[in-house]
Amino acid sequence: MGRKLIICWLALIPGLASAAGGAGYLQPVDVDISNEAALQRGSKYFVNYCLGCHSAKYVRYNRLALDLGLTEEQLTDNLMFTGERPFDTMDISMPAQEAANWFGRTPPDLSLVARARGESWIYSFLKSFYLDPSKPTGANNLVLSGASMPHVLWELQGTQRAIFREEIDSEGNSHEVFDRFEIVSPGSMDATQYDTMVRDLVTFLSYIGEPVQLERRALGIKVILFLLVFLLFAILLKKEIWKDVH
Ligand code: HEC
Repeated sequence: MGRKLIICWLALIPGLASAAGGAGYLQPVDVDISNEAALQRGSKYFVNYCLGCHSAKYVRYNRLALDLGLTEEQLTDNLMFTGERPFDTMDISMPAQEAANWFGRTPPDLSLVARARGESWIYSFLKSFYLDPSKPTGANNLVLSGASMPHVLWELQGTQRAIFREEIDSEGNSHEVFDRFEIVSPGSMDATQYDTMVRDLVTFLSYIGEPVQLERRALGIKVILFLLVFLLFAILLKKEIWKDVH
């Protein structure tokens, strides 16, 4: 019985991998959510470029201020533009049904997207929009083929074309395989600046996926320090108790 269950799970793995889609094009990224400056920049980009369509409804502004080291003034000046109150969550005013009519799909809430998709997936997704006149948004995406999200960061990244090449597999079938991107028109950022910007955004999305990560890490360090001090006392105590026995 147990073995059968394991076999079922193993059979599921390739299915899950292909459901994630675009796995071959993923670029790995490391984010450091204890980097406060990156989080602050990421939150600002998020509010400016994403919150128009996507909510982050599990995130409260005042919690954000606390974790990102922002004063209430910085919070209202930089992140809150439409009269929200500090204890509100990051919601949007766009009605879901209207969004679905415009984009063909309601832009999903992004609170947990970093946990659902993974950081590298989002990083690659935001870097992989390319021109495709056959799509209603004028753009397609290498990681999420046929994405109904427009390339909202095009002014920063510029626009790019995807070059595909033919490849024949072992069974003689030909496939189109992604080769490289070619810049069509440059944006206001160069490639390195854009990568940093996207990494900041992903850092922010990773943090909102699990805000308690920050506390957990800080707590972990305290616990280890405590154990080290405790160890020292334990050693001293042991020496004291055993000194007459030797
Ligand atoms: C103009 C509206 C709009 C804006 C602005 C926008 N998105 Fe989207 N986004 C969408 C739509 C619509 C989808 C659904 C795409 C699909 O599934 O085809 C989507 C999907 C996504 C997904 C994939 C979610 C999933 O798991 O399928 C991510 C990640 C994402 N957006 C991140 C962002 C980020 C980060 C920003 C800000 C830089 C942003 N979006 C700005 C409309 C938008």
